Amino acid sequence: MIDSRLIPEDFTPVPSLGHGAAIAVTTAPAADLDAIGFAVGTTGDVPAELGVSFESLERAGFTGAPGQTLTLPQADGPVYIAFGVGDEDAQTAPALRDAAAAFVRAASAYARVGISIGETFALAQATTVGQLITEGALLARYRFTELQPSTKNVPLSELDIVAPANYQEAVAEGVRIGEITSRATNLARDLANNPPGHLTATRLGETSEHIGPDFGLTVETFDKKQLIELGCGGLLGVNAGSAEEPRMIKLSYVPDGTPTSHIALVGKGIMYDAGGISLKPSDAMHLLMKMDMAGAAAILGAMTALRDLGCTAQVTAWLMCTDNMPSGTAMGLGDVLTIRGGTTVEIRNTDAEGRLVMADALVLATEESPDAIIDVATLTGSALQTLGTRVAAVFGNDQALVDQAKAAADATDEPVWQLPLEHRYRLQLASPVADISNMGGPFNVAITAALFLNEFVAGIPWAHLDIAGTMQTDRDDSWRSAGATGFSTRLLIELILNFRKAA
Ligand code: BES
Ligand code: MN
Ligand code: ZN
Repeated sequence: MIDSRLIPEDFTPVPSLGHGAAIAVTTAPAADLDAIGFAVGTTGDVPAELGVSFESLERAGFTGAPGQTLTLPQADGPVYIAFGVGDEDAQTAPALRDAAAAFVRAASAYARVGISIGETFALAQATTVGQLITEGALLARYRFTELQPSTKNVPLSELDIVAPANYQEAVAEGVRIGEITSRATNLARDLANNPPGHLTATRLGETSEHIGPDFGLTVETFDKKQLIELGCGGLLGVNAGSAEEPRMIKLSYVPDGTPTSHIALVGKGIMYDAGGISLKPSDAMHLLMKMDMAGAAAILGAMTALRDLGCTAQVTAWLMCTDNMPSGTAMGLGDVLTIRGGTTVEIRNTDAEGRLVMADALVLATEESPDAIIDVATLTGSALQTLGTRVAAVFGNDQALVDQAKAAADATDEPVWQLPLEHRYRLQLASPVADISNMGGPFNVAITAALFLNEFVAGIPWAHLDIAGTMQTDRDDSWRSAGATGFSTRLLIELILNFRKAA
């Protein structure tokens, strides 16, 4: 089908994989850089290179707070930019990441950039510092420009991180980690930023098959015929109105040696959510529905980081990909779908499609008896209305697992807030004709959606991230660049690397 769409022959769904900046850790900045950033704290000394006193910076309105920058043009050579890193004692991981992000944005006109971290940082944690600086720089300079040939955007081509001689190795290890987590996030962003006519379910399958082996992943894609054989009635039902074939993409990572645990991931991959027969109105919000596969994108991104970060867990992921379109072949209200495993679902609203495609995958995941299941989905407008665009909702049936997700969220500055899996609302999902209905009442929509998913996890420890609010940002903000944020990619990596199964 894809030949009938607007897809260029040489379409590259994941441009950022090939556009990385060369990052070096050095003891002195290269002579030919365009700009050099100098870390300045609220209490520390001003680096001698800047040649100014703290008082003179203050007179120019710069106090050293994280996020602040002050450009100091030089007679010749690179431009100097002071960037604030706050109070040394209070420096938190998000502040350092954001400080680097603010600096590279202040230097957005420059391709070859240095960052002098000096003695300002808590260098006892030099590896973490290297990782945070790298993430801040690479995530904040991300732009989706593939379809904008006239752009004046200057990509970062070189990044020199200048650190004291005795910390070079530790910082370099942090840079290595930060490059991997940023590349994974920017991959997820590329996928979510791509228009729906370009990145179809079929194309996402091909993309996964193309890049997976480079990162030690086994990739299997399942087409419509195979999904019929598997009995994936949720994914097939949502796909029924679409001119594009569905794809289920299964990704497997198996570590060397005996795995310490087995984690299953399930991602919502709605390539475009028109709502189906329950058609969405044409308001601006629905421009964002090309990102309704942001959960699947975050999982694919996170999977590409596992081998290179020495993950000892086995990880299996199911990405459930289709668009949700209205047409003469679309499912209608009152239709009943049969999910893999036999549960029947009455369709009361075709726009509640995410939970239908996820249900098949959750059942497939339980069949492998993993230690935990983690799903990521742009599931409900309710998550956006409740928590806004900065905080995602987390639900779960196992507090220890939810707590691990919260810890990973804090470490990565991908914040989550737990909402209750309130079983007293389960009766809202009752159906007179099927085992369950796909829509609850008009209130607590994120909660009834989570309760619906809970029906399919067979009591296995499970956490559900509803990233509908955090999938995108209107403007540059901290490590987030305007457009798709890649939210939960780094959270998943952190959670998986530190995962402890229940005793
Ligand atoms: N993809 C949407 C949820 C969404 C909304 C994501 C806004 C990002 C931004 C989802 O498929 C949907 O339509 N959910 C409905 C469910 C309802 C019909 C029960 C919703 O939340 O309104
Ligand atoms: Mn929908
Ligand atoms: Zn949706």
